[in-house]
Amino acid sequence: MKTCLVTGGFGFIGSNFIRYILKERKDIIIINVDDITYAANPKNLADNLANYKFYKVNIVDKPALSKVFNDNKIDYVVNFAAESHVDRSIMNPAVFIKTNVEGILNLLELSLKHSVERFLQISTDEVYGSLGKSGKFSEKTSLSPRSPYSASKASADMLAMSFFHTYDMPVLISRCSNNYGPYQFPEKLIPLVIINALNNKDIPLYGDGKNIRDWIYVLDHVNGIYSILEHGNVGEVYNIGGDSEMENEAIIKYILNKLNKPLSLIKYVKDRPGHDKRYAMDFTKITQEMGFLPEYNIEKGLDLTINWYLNNENWWREILSGNYKEYYKIMYDYR
Ligand code: NAD
Ligand code: TYD
Repeated sequence: MKTCLVTGGFGFIGSNFIRYILKERKDIIIINVDDITYAANPKNLADNLANYKFYKVNIVDKPALSKVFNDNKIDYVVNFAAESHVDRSIMNPAVFIKTNVEGILNLLELSLKHSVERFLQISTDEVYGSLGKSGKFSEKTSLSPRSPYSASKASADMLAMSFFHTYDMPVLISRCSNNYGPYQFPEKLIPLVIINALNNKDIPLYGDGKNIRDWIYVLDHVNGIYSILEHGNVGEVYNIGGDSEMENEAIIKYILNKLNKPLSLIKYVKDRPGHDKRYAMDFTKITQEMGFLPEYNIEKGLDLTINWYLNNENWWREILSGNYKEYYKIMYDYR
């Protein structure tokens, strides 16, 4: 048996990753370390999972994190734990530096001390900055983050690589494009649009709506992470993409049409400051080295996602009834 410490396992991608590993690999024990922030939901994972243990720990709290490493022989670390929303990073950057930078430093130091076999940092295409109409990000593109969120993620990547070069630690980094799918917290574009549409509420579209993201269905991302954890070369970065570039406006129209809702729900609002124009991923490296290709095209992925939110109303209604209301007011009332 191998033991894999997953941080942020009650979040969107972390919970999809844990579900995937526990299904695929009966020889891996998962230790989920999560502080259960606003973005987490313990209901994202079933109760009484086999080969699974949970610790409620903030990765910034080194003594508490140290206890997790002392109590368990950890073989792999996969670090999902992060503050992950660009708009929140614009309102309150400090916590992004705490979790995304100080947190990974603690994880790296403890992983080094306990001779972890592989340390995979889950990063993002946003560290590369913003593209114009043409070109794509490759692993060789220089880092040029433009939001407090992406700056904190770029810092984390550089710290992680410094542990590879300085201490010969077996660090790997994956950088993925925008995810969507089941269990995504409704502050992000796609679940926000689905839920607002179902509630016949305005859909805030930033700026001219022409910003482009390369969308990937979360299960494709999870599959790519698993390949990198198993087969990636230490000291290297791997891009993961969905090969599905789409303008925000087009995504929203697709969802509204699927739900038979009027396009008049779209409300063009004040743009996000420093809004990155376009992201696009060149993920040739992971395809050539590991045969990775996304299985879900955007229509298939969106249809599955829309159905999931239709079938899991209790999950999102509970979120809407909590602090989310307050967040929504602050973020959108004066936009
Ligand atoms: P999320 O916001 O849904 O979940 C983050 C999780 O981390 C939550 O469970 C939260 O409780 C936990 N967490 C936050 N701060 C913590 C702390 N200090 N200590 C312990 N746990 C803490 O995020 P997500 O969308 O699932 O993203 C996961 C990772 O993937 C992040 O590192 C993010 O940067 C990266 N990523 C996300 C996307 C995307 O489109 N969502 C794309 C590329 C990369
Ligand atoms: P988001 O889901 O926040 O991801 P990211 O900023 O990390 O790419 O946003 C995706 C795109 O959708 C981005 O261009 C901003 C835009 N957007 C809106 O137009 N309206 C919204 O209410 C939100 C949350 C995002």
